[in-house]
Amino acid sequence: MHPLRKNTLLLSVLWTGLLLVLFFLNFREIQKGPVAQAQVQARSLLSSVISFRSWASHFGGVYVTPTEQYPPNPYLKTPERDLVTRDGKALTLINPAYMTRQVLQDFYSQEGINGHISSLHPLNPRNTADTWEKQSLLAFEQGSTHAWTVEPTQEGSRVLRYMQPLYVENKCLKCHDDQGYRIGDVQGGISTNIDLSHGDAIAAGSIQSLLGTYVLVWLIGLGGIFVLLRRSMSLAAERKQKDNLLAVSENLAQGFINGMSEVANLEDSFHALASMLEKRDPYTAGHQLRVADLAEKIALELGMTQDQAHGVRLAGMVHDIGKIQIPAEVLNKPGKLSDLEHSMIRLHPQVGFDILKAIRSPWPIPEAVRQHHERLDGSGYPQGLKANDIIMEARILAVADTVEAMSSHRPYRPGLGLEAALAEIKELSGTQLDPVIVEACLRIFHEKDYRFSA
Ligand code: HEC
Ligand SMILES: [Fe+2]
Repeated sequence: MHPLRKNTLLLSVLWTGLLLVLFFLNFREIQKGPVAQAQVQARSLLSSVISFRSWASHFGGVYVTPTEQYPPNPYLKTPERDLVTRDGKALTLINPAYMTRQVLQDFYSQEGINGHISSLHPLNPRNTADTWEKQSLLAFEQGSTHAWTVEPTQEGSRVLRYMQPLYVENKCLKCHDDQGYRIGDVQGGISTNIDLSHGDAIAAGSIQSLLGTYVLVWLIGLGGIFVLLRRSMSLAAERKQKDNLLAVSENLAQGFINGMSEVANLEDSFHALASMLEKRDPYTAGHQLRVADLAEKIALELGMTQDQAHGVRLAGMVHDIGKIQIPAEVLNKPGKLSDLEHSMIRLHPQVGFDILKAIRSPWPIPEAVRQHHERLDGSGYPQGLKANDIIMEARILAVADTVEAMSSHRPYRPGLGLEAALAEIKELSGTQLDPVIVEACLRIFHEKDYRFSA
């Protein structure tokens, strides 16, 4: 498998795993919600019930008018259970447990709230503890302060059962004294059931929308990973193709030159070579031809022979052939070049020399190409040659190259115009450029009205 593909697969698996874990954690938190909320509800209900029981115990029970629905409590054995007021009205004593039952059964139950008071030793059989209540009461005797459990209902939903202990206090013994309790004992407990179906429905809704969000995020992530893969694959392919192209064009050039050494008409061959370079770098190709033409004119103006001038022309036609080795994006890069890119560019005279050195011709073409960026004051490259160590052909190319390059457009900068270019070589005359050659060049433009072809 392609290594990029393998990385992508790994990334996708990691991404999926990460989301699964996050979703699971979120899911668990939401699922715990309804029970936690019901517990809070149960605790506050029981504490309010225990408070009003405590209030009633404080008075040893409270007297109310008995009704048919709430008759005197047969389990309450106190002698003053039933009283008659002076004007003949009957009153009966309501003990806290009786009161709790009435309130929970007949008033709270309208709100869907329920409760049950129970004991391991009930006075009233209605207060008998069921199995879970019994377990909880035994746990309270061991010191637990509350008990809860979640049970399924017959309707298929869930219910929270929650229970708290009731401890024997001094005021309780007034009625419970013959049961053998001591203060602080667990006398019983009070439990409530809270329906979880509403909370569960809400949680299910949240989980569903959470799942939707997670699936969306998951898909977006996978899409991103996929796009990343495609991009890096095509980048890799592009790079490979470029490398291939570069190798091919270098080989072609070299093969071409090697065959060329026998060819008599170098100019035709150089044309062919230049048009090959043009495929990659159209600017350099046109540049070379214009430099060649101007350089030949300068050579003639300097009084060189037709034959020597022809050699200068030929050298001009291929003076930048070494750029075949530089990637096109570096050649045409606007703005500042990095150090690495700069050093790539500075190699082209030597590369050109290496490509051309196999040619057997009467002219110093390879040497002229190698030296065309040398400068009189030694500031040039690649060898930093000075003054007369630079051959005449190369000094002519340097002037023609500078004028052409400055006056013409490049993809990364506009041309400065011919006048600015001529002013520039005048400026450099004597320091970097040969003054005699600069003079000749200016004459050609000013007196002979020479112009570059398009
Ligand atoms: C006025 C008398 C009276 C007082 C005071 C009183 N109780 Fe009771 N209690 C009763 C009676 C009577 C019953 C049983 C009949 C019933 O269920 O109403 C009972 C029932 C209970 C039960 C249910 C189990 C059973 O025995 O049937 C518990 C638990 C309980 N009382 C706890 C207490 C606690 C704790 C206190 C003190 C905070 C207390 N009682 C104060 C009279 C009293
Ligand atoms: Fe150059």
